Amino acid sequence: MCGIAGYIGPKNAAQVLIVALERLKYRGYDSAGLVVSEGGKLHLRRAAGKLKELDAKLAAQPLSGHCGIAHTRWATHGPPVEHNSHPHLSADGRIAVVHNGIIENHVALRRELEGEGVVFASQTDTEVVPHLLAKYYDGKDPVAALRTVLARLEGSFALGVVFADRSDRILVAREGSPLLIGRGREPKAARTDDRRSTEGGTPWTERELLVASDIPALLPHASEFLTLEDGQIADLGPHGVRITTFAGDKVEARFRPIEVTAEAVSKGSFDSFMAKEIAEQPSVLTRLIDSRLRGGVLVEPDLGLDLASLRHIVFLACGTSWHAALLGKRFLEALARVHVEVDISSEYRYRNPVAGGDTLVVTISQSGETADTLAGLRLAKSKFLPVVGLVNTVTSTIAREANGVMPLLAGPEIGVASTKAYTAQVMALYLFAAQVAKAKGLLPRDAEEALVAAARALPDLAERTLKLCEPAVEECADLYSAAQASVFLGRGGEHPTALEGALKLKEIAYVHAVGYPAGEFKHGPIALVTKHLPVVCMCPRDAMYEKMLSNIQEVKARAGRIISVGDAADRDLRDLSDHLLPVGRAGDELLQPILSILPLQRYAYHVARRRDCDVDQPRNLAKSVTVE
Ligand code: F6R
Repeated sequence: MCGIAGYIGPKNAAQVLIVALERLKYRGYDSAGLVVSEGGKLHLRRAAGKLKELDAKLAAQPLSGHCGIAHTRWATHGPPVEHNSHPHLSADGRIAVVHNGIIENHVALRRELEGEGVVFASQTDTEVVPHLLAKYYDGKDPVAALRTVLARLEGSFALGVVFADRSDRILVAREGSPLLIGRGREPKAARTDDRRSTEGGTPWTERELLVASDIPALLPHASEFLTLEDGQIADLGPHGVRITTFAGDKVEARFRPIEVTAEAVSKGSFDSFMAKEIAEQPSVLTRLIDSRLRGGVLVEPDLGLDLASLRHIVFLACGTSWHAALLGKRFLEALARVHVEVDISSEYRYRNPVAGGDTLVVTISQSGETADTLAGLRLAKSKFLPVVGLVNTVTSTIAREANGVMPLLAGPEIGVASTKAYTAQVMALYLFAAQVAKAKGLLPRDAEEALVAAARALPDLAERTLKLCEPAVEECADLYSAAQASVFLGRGGEHPTALEGALKLKEIAYVHAVGYPAGEFKHGPIALVTKHLPVVCMCPRDAMYEKMLSNIQEVKARAGRIISVGDAADRDLRDLSDHLLPVGRAGDELLQPILSILPLQRYAYHVARRRDCDVDQPRNLAKSVTVE
C-alpha cells in the first residue's frame, strides 16, 4: 500500500515525479504529495483526493528543482486529508520523508518526541521519522543520522528522505516494503545548459537516478534498476548510488536492464487499464503456454524440486489469487493425485500449521508483495519447508524469497481488479499440475498431447468468447446495474468462478455480491431470492451440468432473475434462463473456468461504468496490499 518515488537529475523533478505517481497510484490513491529540494529550501505540494488534485496544485504553483521525492497514499494511520499526506516534514522544515509501510512503535516514539517539545502536524505513524532525523542530523552526515533513526524503528518501511541543505541527495532505506532504484542511460555528452544540479549550478555529471516502489514508475527515464534489499540504505547523488547495510557495511550496487516497456504500462486505445487487461488475456495465455512447452511437450519447471516425489502441497494466497488456488487444488488432485490444501494467507500465518517435511508450499500472488502471503512464505521457510512462488512480478519480494519461482508472464497488471493475472494463474496451475503428473508417470504420451492441444486452443476460444458474450453482457448490465445485490452460483470448477465473479462486481461496481457452491444455496441463502435478485448461474456442459440445471430450477421456482453462463447452442439452458451469456467450450473441462470468468469480468466492468465508478481505482482499495 502506498507508492513512493524519487528523482535526481537534469529534468524538472516535479514533472518526472507526477508521472511516476500516476504509475504508482494503483498502490493507493486517496491523497498524494511531493517535495523538491532547491536553493537551500524544501518546497512542498500536497493534496487530498486523487492525483489530479495534486496535478492541479502544481499547475497553479509550479516547482523548479531537480531533486525530489513523492508519495501516493492509502491511508492507514489518520484519514486521507492534506495534513496526513506525505511527504512529512521535520518541525524546522529542513527534512522531508515519504514512507510506505507501518512504523509499529510510532506511539512510543511520538510520546518521546512530544516530551521533548516537538509539535506534530499529522496523525500518521510516518511523522516520527522526520522529527527523529532532525534530532540526530548534525548538518554533516545525513547517512549517519538515518542509520541512527533506523535503529529505533520497528515495523516495515520503504523510506525516501531529502534535505534542504543537500539539494542533490536522496537517501532511501528498506525493511519489509519494496524499493527499487533506477538509473538512466549513460549521457551522450554533458550539456551544461540542461545538465545542472541545483547546487550552485554545477553540472550534473552522472546518469539520472530514480527511486520507486515498482518498475513502471521508473519508466521512461531509467534503463537499468536494482532492488534494494531489507536492511539496506542507499545514498543517491552526483557520486552515483552508494549502498550500505543498516550496520554500515558496504554493498555493491548491481544494476540490471529493465525489460518492461513504457507501452506495457499505458492504456493504449482503451478507456481503462481494466478493459485493456481483459482484452489482453488471449495473448497472455499464449505467452504463458509457450513458456511451459518445448517442441510441443511439457517441460519440467526449474524449481530444484523432485516433482515425482511430491505428496502434499499447501497453496497460500489472498483474494483473487486464492480463487485461482482453489482451481489449482482441483487440477493437482485430478491430474497428479497430490493432496492439496488451500489456505488464505492471513489465516495460515496466525495458525500453527502442521507440516511434514514432504510438504511443498506454493505462494500465489500477482504482485508478489502481499504482506500476508509474504508472512506465510516466511513462516513456511522457518519450518524448513520448500516454498515456490507463482508470481507475476518477478522482481517482487515473494519472488526473491521463494526457493523457486514460476513466473506468470502476464505483463504489468495496473487495474486494481485482477483479471489477466487471474486467468494466467489458473492456466499456470493447470500446466504445473500436468508437469507434476508427467513427472509421476501419470500422464501418458497421448494424454499429454490432448492436454497440450486443449491448452493451446484456449487463447483463441478466449478471444472468441470475449466477442461472443459482449452484447448479452451489455444487455444484462443495462437491466441490472441498479440491482442492490447479486448472487453467483457454480459447482465444481465453476464454484471459484462464482466467487471471483462476485468479487469483481463487489470491488469495482460496489454491488453487494456473494458467490456460493450451487448445491449449498438451498441450505439458507436461497431465502434471499426474490424477483429483484439477479442470480448468475455458471452452467457449462461439464460433469456438474445436470445438477446445476436442477439448482437453476430451484431459483426459477422462486422467481429469481437468472443470468446463465454456458454454451451458446444450449437450448435447454437458454429456455430456463432470463439471459444467457455465451462462452466457448474448452477442450478439457478443467480449463472451462478460464472461459467462464470472461463474461463476468466484462459484466462487472459494464455495471461499474453504468454506476459511474472508477474501474481502475475503486474506492478504499489499493492494488498491492502490503499491510496486514
Ligand atoms: C481482486 C484483487 C485482490 C488480489 C489480492 C491478492 O481483484 O486483485 O483480491 O487478488 O489482494 O493480491 P496478490 O495476488 O498481488 O497477492
